[in-house]
Amino acid sequence: MIRIINNCFALCTEHSAYVFRVNETGHPEHLHYGASLGWTADTPDGVIENDCAAMAEKRSFELGNTVVYSPEHKTVMLEDLRLEAASVGKGDLRDPFAVVRYADGSTTSDFVFEKAELLKGAKAPLEGLPSSHAAEGEAEQLLVILKDAASGVALELTYTVYEAFDVICRSSRIVNGSGSDVDVLRLMSAQVDFSEDGFELTSFHGAWTREMEKETVPVKHALVVNSSVCGASSNRSNPFVMLHRPQTCESFGEVWAFNLIYSGNHYESAGVNAYGKTRFLNGINPQGFSFRLAPGEAFQAPEAVMCWSDRGFSGMSQCLHGFVRKHITPDEWQGLSRPVLLNSWEASYFDISESKLLRLARAAQGAGIELFVVDDGWFGRRDDDTSSLGDWFVNKKKFPSGLKAFGEKLKAMGLQFGIWIEPEMISVDSELYRAHPDWSMEIPGRAHSEGRNQRILDMANPAVPEYIGSTLAALLKDTGVNYIKWDMNRVFSDVFSQHLPAERQGETAHRYMLGVYRLFDILTKALPGVLFEGCASGGNRFDLGILCYCPQIWGSDNTDALCRARIQEGYSYGYPLNCVSAHVSSVPNHQTLRETPLATRFNVACFGSFGYELNLADLPQAELAKMKEQVELYKKWRDVLQNGDFYRLECGSTHKWICVSKDKRRAVGMLMRELAEANTQYEDFKAAGLDPDLTYRFYSVAEKQDIRQFGDLVNTVSPVHIKQNSLAHNLIARFVKLDGEAECAELSGSALMGSGIRLLPSYGGTGFNDRTRCFPDFASRLYYIEAI
Ligand code: GLA
Repeated sequence: MIRIINNCFALCTEHSAYVFRVNETGHPEHLHYGASLGWTADTPDGVIENDCAAMAEKRSFELGNTVVYSPEHKTVMLEDLRLEAASVGKGDLRDPFAVVRYADGSTTSDFVFEKAELLKGAKAPLEGLPSSHAAEGEAEQLLVILKDAASGVALELTYTVYEAFDVICRSSRIVNGSGSDVDVLRLMSAQVDFSEDGFELTSFHGAWTREMEKETVPVKHALVVNSSVCGASSNRSNPFVMLHRPQTCESFGEVWAFNLIYSGNHYESAGVNAYGKTRFLNGINPQGFSFRLAPGEAFQAPEAVMCWSDRGFSGMSQCLHGFVRKHITPDEWQGLSRPVLLNSWEASYFDISESKLLRLARAAQGAGIELFVVDDGWFGRRDDDTSSLGDWFVNKKKFPSGLKAFGEKLKAMGLQFGIWIEPEMISVDSELYRAHPDWSMEIPGRAHSEGRNQRILDMANPAVPEYIGSTLAALLKDTGVNYIKWDMNRVFSDVFSQHLPAERQGETAHRYMLGVYRLFDILTKALPGVLFEGCASGGNRFDLGILCYCPQIWGSDNTDALCRARIQEGYSYGYPLNCVSAHVSSVPNHQTLRETPLATRFNVACFGSFGYELNLADLPQAELAKMKEQVELYKKWRDVLQNGDFYRLECGSTHKWICVSKDKRRAVGMLMRELAEANTQYEDFKAAGLDPDLTYRFYSVAEKQDIRQFGDLVNTVSPVHIKQNSLAHNLIARFVKLDGEAECAELSGSALMGSGIRLLPSYGGTGFNDRTRCFPDFASRLYYIEAI
C-alpha cells in the first residue's frame, strides 16, 4: 500500500512501513523504516499526518560548528537530517547519495521536492538494466522528482512496494535539465537514514572456491564499506548485506537486508554521524566512475532491493526467497523444476570428444540424469585455456559431425543438451583478436596484465555484444540446445574502452555491464525456452542482475561437500536454494583432496539446483547404483527442495537445515556435522515451518555407503589394535550391522518444532550398541517429514 497525504508518503508492506515527508525546506526527510505502524487503507489521513509529525526531526536552535541550510531556516542542518537522497555542498557531511559535476566544475547540488506521482500499470523495465518485474496489480509504485534549482538537473526516485514479501525496491535517475554537459560522479540506488546507532553489518566475503563467508562488524563512526571494483559483483564481497541488531538471530530480531540488481562494481556503506544517526547506502561503486550527460540526457542507476523482518535472519531470507522467485526469476521459469544435470568439466576438463562424451552420457542416462552439459573445450582450437575465446565455431576434430548431430544423439537417449560458453572474453590467440584487436579491453601503448590467459571484450562498444550475440544465436539456434552455462572468468584490469573518448573513460565499467545485459537480451530472446545458468569462475558474479536472466548460477568451483555446506549456507541468506546450482563430484575432491561420503555429497548438493560433475562412465557399478537411487530420491523431493521455504536451523560446525513445502505437508531436513567429537553423542532435530496441528512421520533412510566406509575401516585399522581392543572390533562389526537401520518417529508439528526430536546417539567414544548412529567425520543425514 502507498498513501500520499499532503507532504507525507507512507509505503506499507504486510509487516513493515517506510515513511518520509517533505520538510519545510523541500527536502524529503526520512521518518521510519521498520515495523508496521498499523496503518491500513482505512486509516484516516489525519492519523497518518499526526504520526508523521511526531516522527519528524525537531530542532529549535542552531547547532554549533555546523552549516545552516539557509538564513530563513536557521534550525535546518542537513548534516543531521534523515534524508532520502543526500547530495554534497549544503551541509551534509556524510557519505552522499548523488554527486554531479557541473560545467563550471562545481559539485554542489541541492535536490528539493518538485512533484510526486503514483505510477499505474505493470512495472516498466529500467532502461538498459535488469530490474524486478511485476504485472499490473502485483506491486505499487511511486515516483518522486527532486530538482536542483540552480542547474535544472533533476533527481528522480522510484519506489516499488511488494507488499506480500515485505520488500521495497528503490531506484534513481538523474536527468540533465541544464543547458550544458554535466558529469554524474556518483549516483546511489538506495539510502536509508536511521535515527539511531547500534547496528551491525553482515556481509559475505571470499575468493575463488571460498565464496560467501559470512562476516559481521559493528557499525560505528568510521565508515564500513562493502564493495567491488573487479568488474563483476565479485566473490570478494557479494552485494547482498544485512543491517541488524547485535541480538538478532536466525529466528528472532530485526534485520534490514539490502541487495542490488546489478552485476558490476558495487558499493555499500554504513556509518554513524556525529549525532548518533546511521546512514546506509548502496549503488554503483563511485570509484573510477563518472558518466557524462549532454543536455536532456539521463542516467539510470540500478534498482536496490530492501527487505525488513523482525523474524530474524531466516524470516528475512524467506521473504527474499519468495521475492526473488516471483519478481526476479524470469517469468517462464517460475515454479518450473530444474533438470538434474551432468556437467563434463570435472569429469574430463578440456579433454573432450564426441565419443568420450557419449560414453559419459550413456552412464548419465542410466543414472536417470536429465540434462548433459558439454563444458569448456568444444570450440575453436581450445585444448587448454590459452586460446580460442571469441571463436564460436565447433571444433570438428572433437565433434566430427557437429553439435547438432551430437545433440540429436543425446536426445535419442532421452537427455537434454547443454553447452558452456564464455561470451564476454577474447583470447589473444584467436581469430577474433586477430580481426578486431580494438575489441579487447586494454590500453594501447601500455603492457597488459593478464588473467587466465584471456582478455575481456569491450562490451562498452555496442558493436561487440551485437556481433557476439548474432554469432552465438546463429550457432546455437540450430543445435537445439536446452541449457547454456554462461561463464566469465576474469577480473578486470587495465580498464579502458578503445571505443570511448578520454572524457568518457569513467563510463567504461558501467557501459561494460550495459553491453553484457544487451547480450543477455539478444541471446535469451533468440533462444526462448533455454535454461541459462550464470557462472564466473564459480561465484564471482552471483547477484540479482544475473538472476534476472539466469534462473540459476553455479555457486562455486569448490565441490567439496564440507566447503559447499558453508558456501550454500552463505548464499541462502539472500538467494533461494534453486538459484544455487550444486553438484556431486568425485573423491578425493579436486579442490581440497578431501574424502567425504557420497551420501554427504548428495545431501548437501540436493539443497540446490542439483547435478553431478564427475566421470560416471568409470565408476564402480555399486556407486552408480547408489547415484541412481539419489536421482530418484531427488526427483521425489525436488519440488520441496527447489520451491519450499528454507530455514537455517543451525549454522557453524554443525549444519541443520530444513526445507518445507508451501502446503507444509512435506519437508526435507538435513543434519551435517563437520567433524566427529568424542562424548557429544546427543543431537536434536528441531524443525521449523511445519503446521503445528498436523501429525508427521519423521524418518531417515539408512546410508549404505557409511557401511562401505566402515567395511574399509575394518581392513585399515591395525590388526594389533583390534586384537588389543576387542571393543573396537566389536564396534566396527556393530556399525556394519547398522545397514538398514533408520531413525523413525511419528509426532505432531508442534512437538517437532517446539521440542524437536532426540536423534539416536552417534558413537562418541563409548557406549555403542545397535541403536547407535553411524556418524563419523563429514557424516550427514537427510530426514524426511511427511504429514500423515
Ligand atoms: C570456470 C567455471 C568452471 C568451468 C571452467 C571451464 O572455472 O567456474 O565450472 O566451466 O571455467 O573453463
